Amino acid sequence: MLRYTDDMTEVAEDMLAGFFQGWPRAASPAQHLAVLRGSYRAVVAVDRAAGRVVGFVTMISDGVLTASIPWLEVLPAWQGRGIGTELMRRVLEGSERFYSVDLLCDAPLQPYYDRLGMSPVPGMTLRHPAALQGGPRERPGKA
Ligand SMILES: CC(C)(COP(=O)(O)OP(=O)(O)OC[C@H]1O[C@@H](n2cnc3c(N)ncnc32)[C@H](O)[C@@H]1OP(=O)(O)O)[C@@H](O)C(=O)NCCC(=O)NCCS
Repeated sequence: MLRYTDDMTEVAEDMLAGFFQGWPRAASPAQHLAVLRGSYRAVVAVDRAAGRVVGFVTMISDGVLTASIPWLEVLPAWQGRGIGTELMRRVLEGSERFYSVDLLCDAPLQPYYDRLGMSPVPGMTLRHPAALQGGPRERPGKA
């Protein structure tokens, strides 16, 4: 039985195993939890019987006009059951007030997001792989 929640106080590090599949480095559970709690909004799917998170999505935002969705992942054994779609539906709820909601994805996933009303755009990024696997850090500029 699955339960969806956007209350990250219900989530603990030991519920977060198995994510960042296929990444050369995974975020640590402490980093992962800090990501969930530090986001503008996060939604997780919890398998009640297993007591673990099986899918998550996060949104960051200025709270006024722009938002982005940096993370969406469903554990392999739970994929193909509509969990990713439901996580997206929930995280996008009320986002009509933003001018833009952006996310980056590989080309094969564009039809997936197209079904959710999103459109392809060109973009740029700067990546620092070494940032993964560390502990949660102080936020720059937040003295
Ligand atoms: C993408 C992802 C979140 C989808 O979650 P999910 O719970 O399996 O998705 P749903 O059950 O809601 O939808 C399944 C659909 O997504 C499609 N899909 C899943 N992964 C895909 C991929 N990598 N490329 C293209 N389509 C994909 C499936 O083919 C399926 O299509 P169908 O409904 O026409 O059969 C999940 O596959 C995942 O975690 N992948 C690894 C991480 C990732 O790529 N995240 C997205 C970052 S932008």
